[in-house]
Amino acid sequence: MKTSSIKTVRLPSGREIPMIGQGTWRMGENRTERQAEVDALRLGLDLGITLIDTAEMYGEGGAEIIISEAIAGRRDEVFLVSKIYPHHACHEGTAQACERTLKRLKTDRLDLYLLHWRESIPLEETISAFLKLKADGKILDFGVSNFDLSDMEDAARIAGGEQIATNQIYYNLEHRGIEFDLMPWCKERGIPLMAYSPLKSSGDDKHALLGHLALKKIAKAHSATTAQIALAWLLHMGVVVIPKAVKPEHVRENLVVADIQLTREDIKSIDKAFPAPNHKVSLAMR
Ligand SMILES: NC(=O)c1ccc[n+]([C@@H]2O[C@H](COP(=O)([O-])OP(=O)(O)OC[C@H]3O[C@@H](n4cnc5c(N)ncnc54)[C@H](OP(=O)(O)O)[C@@H]3O)[C@@H](O)[C@H]2O)c1
Repeated sequence: MKTSSIKTVRLPSGREIPMIGQGTWRMGENRTERQAEVDALRLGLDLGITLIDTAEMYGEGGAEIIISEAIAGRRDEVFLVSKIYPHHACHEGTAQACERTLKRLKTDRLDLYLLHWRESIPLEETISAFLKLKADGKILDFGVSNFDLSDMEDAARIAGGEQIATNQIYYNLEHRGIEFDLMPWCKERGIPLMAYSPLKSSGDDKHALLGHLALKKIAKAHSATTAQIALAWLLHMGVVVIPKAVKPEHVRENLVVADIQLTREDIKSIDKAFPAPNHKVSLAMR
């Protein structure tokens, strides 16, 4: 059954992006997981989670191939995001990497193409290559990822930099540094943020966030899970969330987040348990 409860936010181009999507990091790496991954993405689409986030890096193209299988015959339903390796992001390299990505995804266009992180290739070159791809209709919007405030300021000074549609960053309850400077800067310019690793669910301390007592209490009051509350808080902060889920129950749970309304009291308890910093914190990355 489809649902239309997922809100959208407007990109600077005027196009709308859904606020809940599906991440694909770690997909396409293991043959035995392949069918479960395709099924999870298809289930998400069936439920109305139409934004899919990927990167040429994920499984070295493997995730894009998984996605091509999941979206076969239904490309027009999907808001497709991929990312380019920074070492490919020179003028020629960007065009070539995009072609490879489109080929793996079996599509003729990306909705959004992001520079995965900043390295040594001048931003001028990458942005000019993105503009060319946009003019050719191969990408409908472009943006960046893992850009701290100073990177955004550098990009904004470049011709075409004003077309940057989004910045995809590491943002969750335990990493609120962007609220001090990057988030207000982007908000002022109408640039929506995309929160990656919204559940902080990989790494050594993967259970620390979802097991937090404050989240458990709020979750209980909403008959929800702690993961749902962590995602609902991100939506409350106005950012796009792209949790990665292979288990069907997780895909279903993540959709329901669209309907959770956190109360003022919930927000107060969250701020107490996970305070936002009152000073500059360098952007965290993983
Ligand atoms: N731009 C970047 O540099 C960058 C970096 C990292 C990630 N990303 C993007 O952001 C996406 C999300 O980040 P992530 O994959 O690092 O971490 P995440 O989405 O925070 O966590 C994924 C983990 O959470 C579990 N999960 C999903 N929904 C859940 C739920 N409702 N309840 C409990 N557990 C749940 C998943 O389990 P199952 O899979 O078993 O269901 C998986 O183990 C990535 O897949 C990728 O597309 C971008």
